[in-house]
Amino acid sequence: MTGPVPALDDRAAACAERLRAADSVLLASHIDADGLTSAAVAAAALERAGITFDVVFSKQLDTEEVASIAATDHGTVLFTDFGSGQLDIIAEHESAGDFTPVIADHHQPADADTEFHLNPLLFGLDGASELSGAGASYVLARALEPEDGDNRDLAALAIVGAVGDMQDGNDGLAGANAGIVEEGVAAGVVAEERDLALYGRQTRPLPKLLEYASEARIPGVSNDQAGSIRFLDGLDLDLKSGGEWRTWVDLSGEERRELVSALVKHAVSRGVPAHRIDSLVGTTYTLLDETEGTELRDVSEFSTLLNATARYERADVGLAVCLGDRGEALDRARTLLRNHRRNLSEGLQWVKNEGVTVEEHVQWFDAGTRIRETIVGIIAGMAVGVDGIDSRLPILAFAEKNDEELKVSSRGSHVLTRQGLDLSVVMREASRAVGGDGGGHDVAAGATIPRTEREAFVDEADRIVGEQLD
Ligand code: C5P
Ligand code: C5P
Ligand code: C5P
Ligand code: ZN
Repeated sequence: MTGPVPALDDRAAACAERLRAADSVLLASHIDADGLTSAAVAAAALERAGITFDVVFSKQLDTEEVASIAATDHGTVLFTDFGSGQLDIIAEHESAGDFTPVIADHHQPADADTEFHLNPLLFGLDGASELSGAGASYVLARALEPEDGDNRDLAALAIVGAVGDMQDGNDGLAGANAGIVEEGVAAGVVAEERDLALYGRQTRPLPKLLEYASEARIPGVSNDQAGSIRFLDGLDLDLKSGGEWRTWVDLSGEERRELVSALVKHAVSRGVPAHRIDSLVGTTYTLLDETEGTELRDVSEFSTLLNATARYERADVGLAVCLGDRGEALDRARTLLRNHRRNLSEGLQWVKNEGVTVEEHVQWFDAGTRIRETIVGIIAGMAVGVDGIDSRLPILAFAEKNDEELKVSSRGSHVLTRQGLDLSVVMREASRAVGGDGGGHDVAAGATIPRTEREAFVDEADRIVGEQLD
């Protein structure tokens, strides 16, 4: 399906054949938006292919997790959105005859290989921007399609996964991801449009849409409740209905154009630089089978809703939503979303108040128990670029995992990766140097380290980043 990469499709076909031959499959996936959508795509495809399976989720595949997977009765394990980074551990179990692994992932592989390994990085594609875990699962799903079947509808979930992993730029998705978008458009499940690129077009009342879009940084509007209302009140548009503020998707095409042009004019008059003004409009994805005005209709809002479940030990809820539950599971997910939003905003505020420690090549903060370890990476990403946090240095963010261990998340930028930064290497090497382990992508990676080793870890990471950027 990816056209330019037939070898990827061939590998997918081999993986599909192995899965069809299995008595029963254990599907194991990661607990974020990409991991959940990966699991949902794979689950739907296995179900449609008549293959029996169970599903488990894990925060982090490590020696113990893989051992507990090996202890189940399943002869075949399908890993989605993780597995490549832990290939060394998995390969040992494979040699011991514990299970046959099939892997659909996009993380930097560890030093080992296996036969049924579907990863864009093995085929010359960028795993951080051209194909996500859900995308790799989608390629597999197409290969699992029965002769009279069509799994292209699953492109919708694959796109949610890619956007959840921040694989899209202002021009939308690229590489193999763009091929998935084309298939989703052809199948009628997704629309690709140029539109206002602010988070919350489906669900936020207009003043909140403008106020909360802090990434736009428009003086007098962003983070300014009264300013946003003043700006909207000053337009010659009827933006309320029945006394309530309307939402973006309620507006007609003409109303949207007028609002965008007024916003651009306002931003120009306040001296917002051209590149930030350009980024106010971008490529957006809408899921056409979902109800208008819900979180599910917009892929960014959908992915946040999923993070709100899986990162709080309720992956079952997120998976049920992905698989079509629009009743109890969706209600539960919305409650979790309110909690997640509060945690993100309180966490970001805490980082703003406390600030970061700046080393030679990296900056870091340690949130201790103030921020949950499962969302400290999201907050680190949101913190880069706020006042006082330099976007030219990679950021490391620590949070307490348990009495013995710290979780560390790291985030860089594409400017830095072009200069040689590879955080997956930094996290793996610096953590292994202090008795931990980690991995990920060049631009975003993570690790677990012993609690007592924070300083040694920072020194080691600082040194490696210095070498990479030299
Ligand atoms: O485990 P996984 O691959 O799904 O997570 C990728 C992580 O990398 C996400 O948390 C995403 O926000 C982050 N990322 C980022 N900037 C990018 C690409 C990914 O912060 N440009
Ligand atoms: O949770 P997730 O990583 O999917 O969030 C993606 C982005 O959406 C965040 O980095 C943030 O900029 C934005 N977001 C937001 N308001 C929220 C939640 C997320 O603006 N309440
Ligand atoms: O947890 P966080 O959002 O910081 O993860 C960033 C990236 O690093 C994700 O792709 C995640 O899967 C990866 N990671 C990893 N090994 C770890 C921690 C994170 O490969 N121990
Ligand atoms: Zn992923």
